[in-house]
Amino acid sequence: MQLHSFLLAIVSLAVTVQSFWLADIPHQGLAPYAGPNSPVFRNVKDYGAKGDGVTDDTAAINNAITTPGNRCGRGCASTTMTPVVLYFPAGTYLISSSIIPYYFTQMYGDASSPPTLKATANFQGFGLIDGNPYWSENPNWVTTNVFYRQVRNFVLDTTAIAPGTAATGMHWPTSQATSLQNIVFNMPKGNGVVHVGLFIESGSGGFMSDLTFNGGATGASMGNQQYTMRNLVFNDCGTAIIQLWDWGWTYINLSINNCGKGIDVSANSDGKQQVGSMTVIDSTIVNTPVGIVTAWSPNSQPATAGTVVLENVVLQNVPVAVAGPSGTVLSGSSASTTITAWSQGHRYTPDGPTNQIGAIAPNNRPSALLDGSKYYTRSKPQYESLPASSFVSVRGAGAKGDAAADDTAAIQSAIDSATSAGKVVFIDYGLYRLTSPITIPPGAKIVGEGYPVLMAAGGYWSNMNNPQPVIKIGATSGQAGVVELSDFVVGTQGSQPGAILFEYNLASTGTPSGMWDVHTRIGGFAGSQLQVAQCLKNPGSSAVVQQCVAAYMSMHATKQSSGLYMENTWQWVADHDIDDNANTQITIYAGRGLYIESAEGRFWLLGTAVEHHVLYNYQFSNTKNIFASELQTETPYFQPTPNAMVPFSVNTSLRDPDFDSSCAGVGGNCAASWGLRLLLDHVLDHRGGENCQSRIVSIEGASRNINIYNLNTIGSLSMLDRDGRSIAKWQDNVNVYPANIAVYRSG
Ligand SMILES: *[C@@H]1O[C@H](CO)[C@@H](O)[C@H](O)[C@H]1NC(C)=O
Ligand SMILES: *[C@@H]1O[C@H](CO)[C@@H](O)[C@H](O)[C@H]1NC(C)=O
Repeated sequence: MQLHSFLLAIVSLAVTVQSFWLADIPHQGLAPYAGPNSPVFRNVKDYGAKGDGVTDDTAAINNAITTPGNRCGRGCASTTMTPVVLYFPAGTYLISSSIIPYYFTQMYGDASSPPTLKATANFQGFGLIDGNPYWSENPNWVTTNVFYRQVRNFVLDTTAIAPGTAATGMHWPTSQATSLQNIVFNMPKGNGVVHVGLFIESGSGGFMSDLTFNGGATGASMGNQQYTMRNLVFNDCGTAIIQLWDWGWTYINLSINNCGKGIDVSANSDGKQQVGSMTVIDSTIVNTPVGIVTAWSPNSQPATAGTVVLENVVLQNVPVAVAGPSGTVLSGSSASTTITAWSQGHRYTPDGPTNQIGAIAPNNRPSALLDGSKYYTRSKPQYESLPASSFVSVRGAGAKGDAAADDTAAIQSAIDSATSAGKVVFIDYGLYRLTSPITIPPGAKIVGEGYPVLMAAGGYWSNMNNPQPVIKIGATSGQAGVVELSDFVVGTQGSQPGAILFEYNLASTGTPSGMWDVHTRIGGFAGSQLQVAQCLKNPGSSAVVQQCVAAYMSMHATKQSSGLYMENTWQWVADHDIDDNANTQITIYAGRGLYIESAEGRFWLLGTAVEHHVLYNYQFSNTKNIFASELQTETPYFQPTPNAMVPFSVNTSLRDPDFDSSCAGVGGNCAASWGLRLLLDHVLDHRGGENCQSRIVSIEGASRNINIYNLNTIGSLSMLDRDGRSIAKWQDNVNVYPANIAVYRSG
């Protein structure tokens, strides 16, 4: 007996040591607009879930999401006011119907021991986790407006459901600033299985990483405007990926093993192809009879539908690498072979289009961007090996986070003391007002609870002729060091026409600095004072409401800075008010998006989006070594009324576009925000809706090693300008909805 209890004590000690810091820290996050009794942090076990693999935990988990506070569920368009971080300790949670994360819910399992959600044999529902339920004929939330939500560290298990009964691991039609990370989908294997791991039918993503799909008819069945997905592993699936539709998609480091088919992009509906384009790089397909199934042909309808670009794809025992509508278009091998680079679609090298299928010269990959032969990548750190004592709370340091107090000093002091002690700063949920710049020193690690907001407030940033940073990453341009930042938002409160939200100064010459799920959000949320009441869109009016001139620039990477890995960051000037239940459109002016003028470069932009800035969204100047996947931009919805020449004047030292001179002789809506100026290494997707404009992407200056795979543009007459001359017209490259160029080489 004594020995027995001694052993038990050891076991419980081991469990204590392993528990995840997020469970153990004080829970002080507070949402200032949520009303009383609406805790941000909720541990499902505090709400009655057992996680014992026996008890049906469905009601307890869903109650933890829906019950305390006024959550955004059925009939609610969207909200930033009632955030919840729903935490699952290790265990097996038996569920008999879907877990439904309401708007602005983060679902986190223990990162060191991911919990299992296990479906009962007679499970009912569209996904063990249903991110957007069909309570009527449409998903509850407009799929292109589902922002700011994450699910990570779970095992989703449908193996108890009969293989021949339809079952879905997760239903996830969402958009920007969302992510799935570190999730395993376990399904039955073999003939007759009809389970699907991940199902997405629409939305405007997005990013996800580190997902493993075991078994099932289909690992992931997905349709969405665009996505970057990396580190997806598929084992023993009927088909690893079925692409229902898309405009553009980038897969990085896929690993497909023992499946019937790899990626099927041949979707057809009413005689029209549904898949616009896809890029696959640094990936492996093993023991799979057909790697990629496509419907592309020289006579595709529309002309560039089904565009595919492959680079560094390793095949082992994949007899058919790419199958077309009339048979094999690229042979594989029963042994091992590598597709160095290959494309089907329109090429501009540098002139075009030529409609071609076959090998292309691979990118001349700069070694500065590589980890071995692959592009460097790094998943968001979760600090699972650290104890709770390694975290310093900003509320613990005196910050109020109530959207009213001045939290500048408390936050700076939390950052400085944590960093000098080698600890991680924890930004408990809240809206924190800053009245002067904050400096993040080298060595800092900062992680937010959900998406707390730091807001530039007061008079410091009022002068648009004297722009100043809000968050300085590194005190001076070129300071050596590395930081890790994740899961928070920076915005402004009211008019801050001189605010540069992030100034990145560090030279991270070895390991790059990282920003994961770190966003700018300018206007459109409670506390911003830039909502429907202040900034209602006034169609047809050119008059600028000064109170709605909200920021100078989202992010500036300065000349001596270098080495920054950005993953899933969304720099968004609000086009609508998230806290207005009709999602009413608003007009907010922010001058510039992401400006990189680092001389050394070494920037990785994975799954980033920059939207609705007046002059440009992305501008890269005199820089080098940039790898970007699926850059996504949108022009401000109010343009061309007023156009991009108001309300900001040209700052030549920032190399602002000068529409006054560059538009001479160009017709149409020329003075419109650039999606991208100068240099990039991968794909761009621009959507402008009805905001037709003359030009959208510009490369200016000396010839460089510039490669673009799958440039997609919408609503722009010229797709690509070189030194002021249009080299590609949209009507020559019509795709499913955008216009597409498979491969551009600067020559
Ligand atoms: C690629 O994915 C595999 C499987 O998830 C992972 O083990 C590996 O670290 C990834 N490689 C890179 C370079 O991210
Ligand atoms: C132009 O930008 C530079 C660099 O950020 C800044 O120092 C200067 O004040 C700006 N000038 C005006 C007139 O805005």
